[in-house]
Amino acid sequence: MTASEAARDLFTVLTGRSPDGIWSAPGRVNLIGEHTDYNEGFVLPFAIPHRTYAAAAWRDDRRIRVTSTFADEPVEVSLDDLTQLFPTGPDTSVPEWSAYVLGVAWALSETTGARDGLCGVDIAIASDVPVGAGLSSSAAIEGATATALDELWSLGLDPVTLAKAGRRAENEAVGAPTGIMDQMASMLGRPDAATFLDCRTLETRSIPTGFTAEGLELLVIDTGVKHSHSTGGYRERRDACERGAEIMGVSSLRDVTVGDLPRAAELMDDVTFRRVRHVVTENQRVLDTVDALTDSGPRAIGGLLTASHASMRDDFEISVPELDTAVDTALAHGAIGARMTGGGFGGAAIALVDGDEVEAVTDAVAQAFATAGFAAPHTFTVMPSQGPRRDA
Ligand code: GLA
Repeated sequence: MTASEAARDLFTVLTGRSPDGIWSAPGRVNLIGEHTDYNEGFVLPFAIPHRTYAAAAWRDDRRIRVTSTFADEPVEVSLDDLTQLFPTGPDTSVPEWSAYVLGVAWALSETTGARDGLCGVDIAIASDVPVGAGLSSSAAIEGATATALDELWSLGLDPVTLAKAGRRAENEAVGAPTGIMDQMASMLGRPDAATFLDCRTLETRSIPTGFTAEGLELLVIDTGVKHSHSTGGYRERRDACERGAEIMGVSSLRDVTVGDLPRAAELMDDVTFRRVRHVVTENQRVLDTVDALTDSGPRAIGGLLTASHASMRDDFEISVPELDTAVDTALAHGAIGARMTGGGFGGAAIALVDGDEVEAVTDAVAQAFATAGFAAPHTFTVMPSQGPRRDA
């Protein structure tokens, strides 16, 4: 059964009727530009073929009922009570999975100021985006929900406004202090192009990857090591970046350049300096990757991808042994470049590989994981894909 059919079935079990429609939004990989988004820097993600589906319909009252294939049981609340529920946490009454959906409903009703005029909805969620793999399953839920509600509530909002609502849900309803990259990547996805995003201005430019023309594949190696950004390391890294910016006397690390790094090294402790150095050099690598793709094609970006991984491993310290093994093994077996993708502390690595070497790299990584005593990785290829759409 496809995820779209699963959403439809779940909806029918929940309500005893058919949905008014099924809307979907994709997950993403990030080609390069990690932990730069909340520093007002640059990122270059693209939407992947894996999608989350929201089967939904109006109700004639003001209640929202949500169910999902992740859920033990549906969650039902009144639109009027949403504000009191967030952020989710051990003491709140709704489970975290539902906060992605309810949070978007809340953020959209706040954004549009139309709160009192909105009708209730039933929503059933199903997804084929791997969860906890660093492929933005959460942005895909937010995007599918936002796209469904935009139509059901006749809001007529643009993709950037919907992306912002998704981010607000994640920050304020779920309580994960993430940036805007994932939601923008999902909402603005296009086949065959990555999205270059300036996270300060939210200006975007489509950058064709040229992978297909060059016979290249982007391999995703999901290590199966789960992570969460609502707790721990992600927030700590964010705090370190803010501390670094303050010491440098700027509002965000976007305003620190590679040429400023010697001064930064004198002003701050070693750990803060290395966090700053990652962000500053990563911003430059994103710009260099865009130039390389535009001027020379995808074979020219391998070194930048691999340098990005080294910076995350050594300076930002967000890699894990499974990710390093995936990257090192892919490179040793012919990958043009490789790096972890997403927020880190687990999740997936990506490797840019010649089409006829995909199998060899996949086998080598599986072998290396087995030798190291790691659980078998899940490996598949992705290509840039379409953003949100109505499926039925
Ligand atoms: C997660 C967050 C993003 C971004 C990345 C790291 O995916 O949701 O906002 O910060 O980590 O680049």
